[in-house]
Amino acid sequence: MHTRESERNDSLSTVLDTEVLLVDRHPTAWERIRLRRAVGWRTHDPAAVEESVDGAVFGVCAEVGGQAVGMVRVVGDGRTCFYVHEVIVHPEYQGMGVGRRLMDRVMEHVAENACRNAFVALIAEEGKEGFYEPFGFLRLPCDGHGSGMERYWER
Ligand SMILES: CC(C)(COP(=O)(O)OP(=O)(O)OC[C@H]1O[C@@H](n2cnc3c(N)ncnc32)[C@H](O)[C@@H]1OP(=O)(O)O)[C@@H](O)C(=O)NCCC(=O)NCCS
Repeated sequence: MHTRESERNDSLSTVLDTEVLLVDRHPTAWERIRLRRAVGWRTHDPAAVEESVDGAVFGVCAEVGGQAVGMVRVVGDGRTCFYVHEVIVHPEYQGMGVGRRLMDRVMEHVAENACRNAFVALIAEEGKEGFYEPFGFLRLPCDGHGSGMERYWER
């Protein structure tokens, strides 16, 4: 399966002129791996990615000709806690409003499902904070809140 999808994805640049459609769905394991690679992020063991696909509470893909050129996953409990994870637009489609459309859809999902005082969080890449501020996210640390923290599991 991976080989066939990999071959399909090599033709990405040939569909640049096609309309970008938003589809509410989880990105497949291979789409996640390919998009993470495309923006230079570290990748995971494909078997682990396969196992994790259904763990998200919400997903949106930006598709061109049925191929994901952008994605967002939201993990959490679907009511009180939402973590916006893996916001990626393929470099060939960046700067065209695709990321904003993906985040608009994520925030619609949150507005429809979050309870009062639900926690909605993400960690911005360095220099990407301004992309998220229009959606109401605050830079940390701020009054009453310390820094976000993270750890990558290395074993
Ligand atoms: C960050 C990313 C998702 C933005 O997607 P995009 O499709 O290129 O962004 P858009 O074209 O939809 O831009 C939407 C708005 O955000 C602004 N914006 C985009 N990147 C920005 C940045 N780094 N800082 C501030 N504003 C930014 C755009 O200027 C645009 O503003 P406008 O609505 O006033 O015109 C995309 O560049 C990407 O995938 N980067 C690599 C992976 C990554 O870093 N993901 C984010 C992890 S936190």
